[in-house]
Amino acid sequence: MSKKRVAILFGGQSSEHEISCISAGGILGAIDRDRFDPILIGITRTGKWVLVDQETVLAIKDGKLPEVDETLPAITADIHGFSYKGQALNIDVLFPLLHGPYGEDGTVQGLCEMAGIRYVGSGVLASAVAMDKSFAKPIFQANGLKVASGVVLTKGEWSAAQIAGLTYPVFVKPARSGSSRGTTKVKSFADLASAIEHGFVFDTKVLIEEAIVGREIECGVLESSGAAKASPIGQIKILGNHEFYDFEAKYLDDATTVVFPEDLPAGVEAAIQSAAVTAFKALGCEGLARVDFFYTDAGEIVINELNTMPGFTPTSMFPKMWGRAGVSYSEVITRLIDAALSRSGHVTR
Ligand SMILES: Nc1ncnc2c1ncn2[C@@H]1O[C@H](COP(=O)(O)OP(=O)(O)O)[C@@H](O)[C@H]1O
Ligand SMILES: [Mg+2]
Repeated sequence: MSKKRVAILFGGQSSEHEISCISAGGILGAIDRDRFDPILIGITRTGKWVLVDQETVLAIKDGKLPEVDETLPAITADIHGFSYKGQALNIDVLFPLLHGPYGEDGTVQGLCEMAGIRYVGSGVLASAVAMDKSFAKPIFQANGLKVASGVVLTKGEWSAAQIAGLTYPVFVKPARSGSSRGTTKVKSFADLASAIEHGFVFDTKVLIEEAIVGREIECGVLESSGAAKASPIGQIKILGNHEFYDFEAKYLDDATTVVFPEDLPAGVEAAIQSAAVTAFKALGCEGLARVDFFYTDAGEIVINELNTMPGFTPTSMFPKMWGRAGVSYSEVITRLIDAALSRSGHVTR
């Protein structure tokens, strides 16, 4: 069997550019080269698509985060597929390793659909819905999952009545946030207006939610031979002085760690795993997702969000949780590519 050419698409215009670069470096180092022939396609911060040499350092080096070099040679990506200097790149499958807007939100998936290129992960609809919490939440709820109660404000259209009678603290967050950008914990009405304004810097829609008190638990879902399977659950432990799992806690060294909780009542892990698969199916996800929950002190399981392309560095939550199940980073990559290759296109999905 000839090797399949896998294009790893990374970088991008979102705030998670560097994380995406590190994830790409991880995949390049772990992908099964007996079966796959990887190429690297980077998206620069300004949105240019370029061919990246495999010798490029895609890791933190001398304290510097990696990024896609603006001066690299451009590739063409359009409905005819991807080409470089007029030559087709002949991609069998694309791994869209992008987080946030213009990557995880259905846009790149749409391009692949038009170009007839298979790709890892969720399709256009699931990607777009998962990206927008104001759409994902009611779907979760309709499928029997608990969500934090709250309101959605649209820039320029919301009314004072919507924010009257909230129980504090609340979380104010952009509908399509990522990396906790634009998210604020608000303790009293006096601080609400500035938090809303801050949220609107990042998005035209902002959610206000009651603050859930409890542990933050994550669960990985991976499609394997057509079935969605849940990983062991992991708990986020935030070290140091962070009010919540904010941007600094997520990305500054040593600010967070994952633990595999062993003190949960019997049945809780299984219930969270089952809720994760329910959420995956509710949005019509494919390939993979990391589903994030709160487990409250009162024993409630509340879904927070679902990420269709979670952080994918070798030390990210998603690979770590699968590692706990005995599925190596390389094996996760292989399963994802195999799942993508086994699809016959969205029309027949
Ligand atoms: N309703 C809530 N109750 C408690 N904490 C919350 C709530 N909403 C968000 N948070 C905190 O903010 C973090 C980021 O919010 P989240 O909705 O996950 O957005 P993002 O897409 O940016 O990760 C969460 O990991 C959690 O720590
Ligand atoms: Mg989150």
